[in-house]
Amino acid sequence: MFSIVTLIPSLLVLSGLVHAAPPVLGQALDDVDDFTIVDLSWDLPINPNNPDGAKSTVTGTIEQAIAKMEAAYPGWNATFRATLPADINATRTALDDVEIDCKIKTDMANILAIKWGIHYLRGVTGKAKNGPGPKNCGRVSCSWDSAIYWCNEDTISKELDWEQIADGAQTVLDNCAGVMKVKGQVSYKKDKWSTVVRFPKGSEGNC
Ligand SMILES: *[C@@H]1O[C@H](CO)[C@@H](O)[C@H](O)[C@H]1NC(C)=O
Ligand SMILES: *[C@@H]1O[C@H](CO)[C@@H](O)[C@H](O)[C@H]1NC(C)=O
Repeated sequence: MFSIVTLIPSLLVLSGLVHAAPPVLGQALDDVDDFTIVDLSWDLPINPNNPDGAKSTVTGTIEQAIAKMEAAYPGWNATFRATLPADINATRTALDDVEIDCKIKTDMANILAIKWGIHYLRGVTGKAKNGPGPKNCGRVSCSWDSAIYWCNEDTISKELDWEQIADGAQTVLDNCAGVMKVKGQVSYKKDKWSTVVRFPKGSEGNC
């Protein structure tokens, strides 16, 4: 029979291992990543029903940007959501001339969280701006341990539409998704940028 004295230390060892496990999930594989993550800013309309009207600039992921707009302009979130398409699973035309890598060395993201990230991007006007790269990756969306980044692979600054980043992430979903999880990178070699869908990099985990 186990005595309580021998049982307790082994339980402590066990729970220590269990606690140590989750952060390692994302970080271990990050050793092979050499991209830099940067913050992005969003020029969002103060009234989502008037996208050409006065704007406010907020920094962070799209989820953080929405929270900041809601804090500054109560009711903003509900108005913004009402402008989004009803179906988050609506499909889009596939993009041409891309390279898709579904085997990037990272853990996977949750499909539904990525779909929500894409869904928000479809509702955002303004430009996705990022400084010179290559491998300069903006933090676009992060929720439920699932991230979207957009990487400037060019040596000069670049501006895209948020819709293009959404199309990139959708292309990863269309080509790389399993049942619940997805990871992958779609690269637009000609225009020198890419979109990455994955478990968040390093300390970004848990968002
Ligand atoms: C925005 O609204 C949705 C749906 O009501 C809610 O789940 C979400 O938490 C809200 N986000 C913020 C930042 O208020
Ligand atoms: C959209 O897809 C998710 C799974 O990725 C599913 O859970 C959800 O029910 C779908 N929604 C609709 C409206 O089909």
